[in-house]
Amino acid sequence: MSRLILVSNRVSTPKARGDEVSQGGLAVALSAALRETGGIWFGWSGETIETFSGEINRQSADGVTIATVDLEPQDVDEYYNGYANRTLWPLFHYRIDLAEFDLQFGAGYERVNDRFAATVAPLIEPDDIIWVHDYHLIPLGQRLRRKGLRNPMGFFLHIPWPPYRLMTALPFHRRLVESILEYDVIGFQTSEWLDSFRHYLVTEMGLKIDGDILVYRGRRIKLGAYPIGIDGAQLDRMVTTHNAQEAFKTVRRSAPNQKTVIGVDRLDYSKGLIERFQGYRYFLEHYPDWHSKVFLLQIAPPSRGEVHTYEDIRKQLDELSGRINGAFAHVDWVPIRYVNQAYPRDGLTGFYRASDVALVTPLRDGMNLVAKEFVAAQDPEDPGVLILSKFAGAAEAMGRALLVNPHSKEQISKALERALTMPLSERRDRWEALNDVVRKEDVTAWRDTFLADLRQAEDKLFFATPP
Ligand code: F6P
Repeated sequence: MSRLILVSNRVSTPKARGDEVSQGGLAVALSAALRETGGIWFGWSGETIETFSGEINRQSADGVTIATVDLEPQDVDEYYNGYANRTLWPLFHYRIDLAEFDLQFGAGYERVNDRFAATVAPLIEPDDIIWVHDYHLIPLGQRLRRKGLRNPMGFFLHIPWPPYRLMTALPFHRRLVESILEYDVIGFQTSEWLDSFRHYLVTEMGLKIDGDILVYRGRRIKLGAYPIGIDGAQLDRMVTTHNAQEAFKTVRRSAPNQKTVIGVDRLDYSKGLIERFQGYRYFLEHYPDWHSKVFLLQIAPPSRGEVHTYEDIRKQLDELSGRINGAFAHVDWVPIRYVNQAYPRDGLTGFYRASDVALVTPLRDGMNLVAKEFVAAQDPEDPGVLILSKFAGAAEAMGRALLVNPHSKEQISKALERALTMPLSERRDRWEALNDVVRKEDVTAWRDTFLADLRQAEDKLFFATPP
């Protein structure tokens, strides 16, 4: 079987097999595929160096080779904090108001993609297959092709693809999209993001798509939706660990007569945290009987702190949570426990299991694995209720959750009331349907389906790019 080369901005450093706390399901699934083929995972080391040298840091553990490269501080500013997180991230999450269009960012993005290509190319052999991940590295395939590589190459986007009209607001959008068309398989999380991409190709570029195959400059490109999932068996093991049990007890003991509503999100404006808090406040205003009987546990570890929009949202949330608590708290009840620290993954599963309701209400999200982990961590005899944003990719297959418009405080509030009073039989019924989806559309299915298509590109579909 041909060797797999994975490329992503961040890599997961090798851990002893079975170290489930520090490696997420995605990293475990990808590492397993690498191990099977003796492959390499390449990406940014997370470190900076004064002058870029292209020197590779190599680490091997448990049959997986990790190769990373250091970037210059200017690279990190322009490529990671700049084009990736101040231009593409907000735009692709429908926040054109937050997107910054700066030529320097674009130049840095292209420079780093060139640097990645120059560094990884010598590691690639003619029989390898290459799988590139996410918005940081869209043009990487094109840069590798320019170096003469003819290997099958796939690209998977973990975040949404924006609607056609939003995409055209990006200066030089066509240049970015043309670069993506150098891959042989292009994958999205959901059919909605895939449709937006197809719309762009047809409307902006006048291309014709036959089923799921786009013929472009003599090459056949497979376009697909590959919903990412969790590793259910890993989650089942984590929920039984000491850490998970302690976390479970901590929540239950801290408020024995209260229901727990949980939210777990990276502190990001796409997650709808302001709107969630406002929805919860509306609920407290309209259902006063619930005072002292429920609390919201919001875990939100800070992220991308060098980007000012992230500092802004953090300040707003500090203020809003303080105001809500100030307005409603009693001596013996605090309505929101707002926690800015990260917890080990197994501990989180204990929090999920101890909770009666999860509020997963992003304004836009490629998929959202918290929704899936919450479901998988429940006690089948007495499961909690998932309130899920219609605008999370996860909603496409999780229609038995209570779906809400995350912009509507009325809908969040009503859904909360409904979830907190839902009879056990309905809770079980909904949970079983959701759990079936979560167990079926898991991370292994995602990986294997994508890789099968990529290998097909190798066998049947792939035609070398004409010179
Ligand atoms: O899902 C999108 C993503 O950018 C991942 O690639 C990344 O691991 C995660 O969000 C966290 O973001 P960051 O790597 O910027 O901390």
